[in-house]
Amino acid sequence: MTHALYVFDAYGTLFDVHAAVRRHQAAVGPKGAELSAIWRQKQLEYSWTRALMGRYHDFWQLTEEALDTAFALVPEANQDARDELLSAYSRLDCYPEVPLVLRQLKERGAKLAILSNGSPRMLEGAVEAAKIDTLLDAVLSVHPLKTYKTAPEVYDMVTAAFRVFPEAVSFQSSNRWDVAGGTAFGFRTVWINRTGLPDEYHDLPPAAVLPNLEGLVAI
Ligand code: LAC
Repeated sequence: MTHALYVFDAYGTLFDVHAAVRRHQAAVGPKGAELSAIWRQKQLEYSWTRALMGRYHDFWQLTEEALDTAFALVPEANQDARDELLSAYSRLDCYPEVPLVLRQLKERGAKLAILSNGSPRMLEGAVEAAKIDTLLDAVLSVHPLKTYKTAPEVYDMVTAAFRVFPEAVSFQSSNRWDVAGGTAFGFRTVWINRTGLPDEYHDLPPAAVLPNLEGLVAI
């Protein structure tokens, strides 16, 4: 079954957030995986706290601040790699199946969009680097709202932009908390559980769980 509109989270779902550290593994040193995990976790923590406080800093600023915290928590990692890591983060790799899956959905007549915490500039860089810009009907950033997922008004950007009811939207995210936000808003949600994580937010379940985006065309 093909839905009329597929909306994708960006970071962790289409773009590999750990690609930046992996690309500069030699420069960062052996604690790279730990640095990368803390970098991502702090970036997300800052998005939630700042949304609750109403003290918005854009996602690029949060990404820089989170990297500095990660370096402070992992002193063995080589801080000289800071600029290279940030530059790599602005042009992350997409997961290998992404271009083909998007093309297949597009060929079936579906509309495709990104809904992300990322700032417009970050998203533009990532979409261009992955060469998926021509496949997307919209790239929606939280930036005009100055808040972050899981605020309902973020998910509402999709229904406003495409003039559809929430249930017409298939929303894909690798972040279980983002899936909970999408389900709460009324989207059909698909959890892309790339790393086999345990389920959470049991009252806000996904309609389906997939290990990557490949199976999406079939459900
Ligand atoms: C995003 C973050 C949550 O792209 O990954 O919105």
